[in-house]
Amino acid sequence: MNISVVGMGYVGLVTGACLASFGHKVFCYDRDPAKIERLTKKIVPVYEKGLKELVEVNVDSGQLLFTCSPKRAYQISDVIIIAVGTPALKTGEPDLSSFFSAARQIGKSLDPERFTVVVTKSTVPVGTWSKLTSILSSRKENGGQSHFGVVSNPEFLREGNALWDTVYPDRIVLGSCSQRSVKVMRDLYRPIIEQSFGNLPGIPPRPGQLKKVELIITTPVNAEMIKYAANAFLATKISFINEIANICERVGSDVTVISRGIGLDSRIGPEFLNAGIGWGGSCFGKDLASILHTAGNYGYFPQIIDAAVQVNTRQRQKIVQDLEELLGDLGGRTIGLLGLSFKPNTNDLRDAPSLEIISGLLEKGAVVKVYDPAAMDECKRQHPELIVTYERSALEAANDADALIIVTEWAEFRNLDCNQLKGVMKQAVIVDGRNIFDPRTLREKGFIYKGIGRPDNSQ
Ligand SMILES: NC(=O)c1ccc[n+]([C@@H]2O[C@H](COP(=O)([O-])OP(=O)(O)OC[C@H]3O[C@@H](n4cnc5c(N)ncnc54)[C@H](O)[C@@H]3O)[C@@H](O)[C@H]2O)c1
Repeated sequence: MNISVVGMGYVGLVTGACLASFGHKVFCYDRDPAKIERLTKKIVPVYEKGLKELVEVNVDSGQLLFTCSPKRAYQISDVIIIAVGTPALKTGEPDLSSFFSAARQIGKSLDPERFTVVVTKSTVPVGTWSKLTSILSSRKENGGQSHFGVVSNPEFLREGNALWDTVYPDRIVLGSCSQRSVKVMRDLYRPIIEQSFGNLPGIPPRPGQLKKVELIITTPVNAEMIKYAANAFLATKISFINEIANICERVGSDVTVISRGIGLDSRIGPEFLNAGIGWGGSCFGKDLASILHTAGNYGYFPQIIDAAVQVNTRQRQKIVQDLEELLGDLGGRTIGLLGLSFKPNTNDLRDAPSLEIISGLLEKGAVVKVYDPAAMDECKRQHPELIVTYERSALEAANDADALIIVTEWAEFRNLDCNQLKGVMKQAVIVDGRNIFDPRTLREKGFIYKGIGRPDNSQ
């Protein structure tokens, strides 16, 4: 098949590269010509395990192409996938201007003689499929609605595991009123649904138990709602365990043990039960704001979702408060901060707790030294207002620090040599916002250690 993908962010680029690996011809378009130029040279703008390798192989084989003028690609495509950003506006609703602009451009370009499926992968509010249909239909040159179909195909990939999640997903959701479009989409995703593809460059082999991927075929409204419900649930699960952590601190209980104790219950499951400084990233915040906004439009206030957001906001502020409890006035204190990206294995800084924590520390007059394995260049570029020192290693960030705080649970931080850390720090104080260290080991080595939801005497 010929496929066009619109928007070369995490979702669009990963989707395009994976579909190209299945033998489809994939034309990739982004409105940012600099991005397209770099991609043409096989320079991948995002940090994502295996992605560079997969892009290189498919560009070399001629299956993956990048373009600044997509009209011709749209005309010859069987499927056009929209994966542009839908960031939150101040009101909470998502900014759909990029999405509708992409839709208008597609509408103007469609070949009236050819049936094309236009797919929404961007996360968009319930009902957007109908607006998309209107925009595409309003283009007279299309020759009417019969020449295109619209499918809502929400994306569930996790940054840091994006390739894995794309080719070994838990499910694929297709929402459409057009059976013909659903058939095209089944054919497009057949290698994933049937798990019939061989080893792919940059992606670990298929997990043994995975034989077939569940396909949910439903209405567009259901498909749109599934995405919001999934993110609202996951964010709530994290906020829930953070609430439990805050109770644990007060009653002398260890939340890591509680998480294990409840996570082994098959009705609960162990995922998303790590207490910490809260969720961030490009999706949870904006998607929860969006569903709150949508519900509000229908005269309903979803209390649990609102509480999940509030708990998260409070949790982010906690780390600076914990630090003040340990050190007193932070003015003039040197704080080493490990981890900038909102989670490990990505350089994405959108809504990253680190940014708020750094601002909080700077406001209190602290001197901040940071280290992140992947996100420092992005941070320098996007946040010149943050006056911090960028260090070349975790050890350099710890050097001469009054305290070290763990903000992102990168694997390399787990393996730090605590004796070495203690040797370079001014004071052996660690505030572990991700509970990556063993409290007893650190205390035995002479550290003052504060985790999340772990009482001072936790073992
Ligand atoms: N990042 C994730 O983990 C994730 C997961 C699931 C769903 N989503 C959703 O997928 C969508 C894309 O997310 P992302 O993180 O890949 O976004 P992103 O911001 O990384 O990338 C979006 C890209 O779209 C381009 N773009 C914007 N308007 C355009 C237009 N009119 N024509 C062509 N290109 C245009 C931008 O230049 C940018 O390169 C969002 O709606 C997001 O909510 C993201």
